[in-house]
Amino acid sequence: MSQRQLFLQHVAQTSDFPLMIEIEKAEGVYMYGQEGQRYLDLISGIGVSNVGHRHPRVLQAIHDQLDKYMHLMVYGEFVQAPQAQLAHALHTTLPKQLNNTYFLNSGTEAVEGALKLAKRYTGRTELISCYNAYHGSTQGALSMNGSESFKNAFRPLLPDVRHIRYNAIEDLEQITKRTAAVLIETVQGEAGVRVPENNYLQRLQERCSQTGTLLILDEIQCGFGRTGTFWGFEQFGIVPDILVCAKGMGGGMPIGAFIAPQEIMAAFKTDPILGHCTTFGGHPVSCAASLATLQVIQEEKLTADVQQKAALFRQLLVHPRIKEIRNCGLLMAAEFESFEVLKAVIDRAILNGVLTDWFLFCDNSMRIAPPLVISEAQIREACEVILRSIDEAVGA
Ligand SMILES: Cc1ncc(COP(=O)(O)O)c(C=O)c1O
Repeated sequence: MSQRQLFLQHVAQTSDFPLMIEIEKAEGVYMYGQEGQRYLDLISGIGVSNVGHRHPRVLQAIHDQLDKYMHLMVYGEFVQAPQAQLAHALHTTLPKQLNNTYFLNSGTEAVEGALKLAKRYTGRTELISCYNAYHGSTQGALSMNGSESFKNAFRPLLPDVRHIRYNAIEDLEQITKRTAAVLIETVQGEAGVRVPENNYLQRLQERCSQTGTLLILDEIQCGFGRTGTFWGFEQFGIVPDILVCAKGMGGGMPIGAFIAPQEIMAAFKTDPILGHCTTFGGHPVSCAASLATLQVIQEEKLTADVQQKAALFRQLLVHPRIKEIRNCGLLMAAEFESFEVLKAVIDRAILNGVLTDWFLFCDNSMRIAPPLVISEAQIREACEVILRSIDEAVGA
C-alpha cells in the first residue's frame, strides 16, 4: 500500500478532505514534496515554525540533549537543566512578576492548567471567554471556545462558563466578583485575526483588577515573535496574571506552558498536593529546542522587521477579490467574498507552490502567517503566486 493509502486507512481523519500533501523534507520557509515540488510555507504548520523549519540551532540543541537524556521522571520531581534554563529565559522576556512556568506538551493542555489554577487560586468557579475564541480541543478548552457549532455535539461541557464579545467594552460588566478568570487571546486568531481596539485590553484588565478576577492571556498564536514583539501583549499596555503559550515556542517540537507569579502557582502545592500533573510536560528535548528557539528569536532579532514584512504583504496583496487585510505583525488574514472563492484560490495556490489556509471561525479569510525568517524576495514570490492563483481560480 502507498503512504497515502496507509494514511487514509489507518491514521484517524477529522475531515473528508485532508490536503494529502506528502512532504519529504522541510527547510527554512520551504517544504519539499515527493516529486520535487516545492511549497512556500505561509502558515508555519499553523503558527509553529516561527524560526523556520529545522533551524540549525534548534537542531543542534535537540542533538545535544538527545546525547544526554530524554524522559527521566514525571514533571516537577527532578531538576532538569533544560526546563530550569528555559523557565529562566522565559522570565527574562517577561515583566518580573511572571516568574514561574508550568510546562506541558501542547496549547490545549496549557489552557487546561491555567483554568484550573485560576479556579484553585481564587476559589471561584465562573470562567469567561470570548465569542469566536479558540483555545483548544480538550473539554475545558473546548468549553471556553466561542463557537457553538464546534461545541454542541460534545455537551455537557464545563459549567459556569460565560462568553462576552471581543472588543465590546459594554460586555466587560459581565465580569464580576464571581468570576475566577477571563481567558482571552491577545489577538483573536481563529476568528480571522481580530486585533484589540480602543484600549480594549486595558479596559479588560481594569475590570479584572476591580473584581479580583485573573486575566489569562492565550498567546499560543501570538507568542514568540509572531506579532512583532516577543509577546503580543507588549503592544497593548497590559500584563496578564497568567500567560499561556505553545506552538511557536518549540521551534517545531511539542511544548506548551502557562506562566504565573510564583505566589499564584503555589496554589497547586496543597489541598490537594500535585494539583496539576503531567508525565511528559516539559520534556527535556522539547525544552532544549524551545530555549534555542527563544535565543534565535532574540539573537537573530527576528522581531525587528516583522512590521516591515507585514507591510510588504499588505502593499503587494492588492486585488479586486481581496476585500480586506487584517494583521498584527505576521499574523495576517486576507478576506475574500466567500469560502467558495477562497477555497478555489487556496487550492490553486498550492498547485502553484504556496501553502495558505483559512481560519476555523472565519472561512472566507486566507491565513498568512509565514515563518518570521521569510525574506523580502520570498514575500514577493508568495504574493505573486497568490495574485496569479486568484486570477487563475476565480478571475478579477
Ligand atoms: C489561540 C489558541 N489557543 C489554543 C490552541 C490550542 O493549541 P494546541 O492545538 O497545541 O492544543 C490554539 C491552536 O490552534 C490556538 O490557536
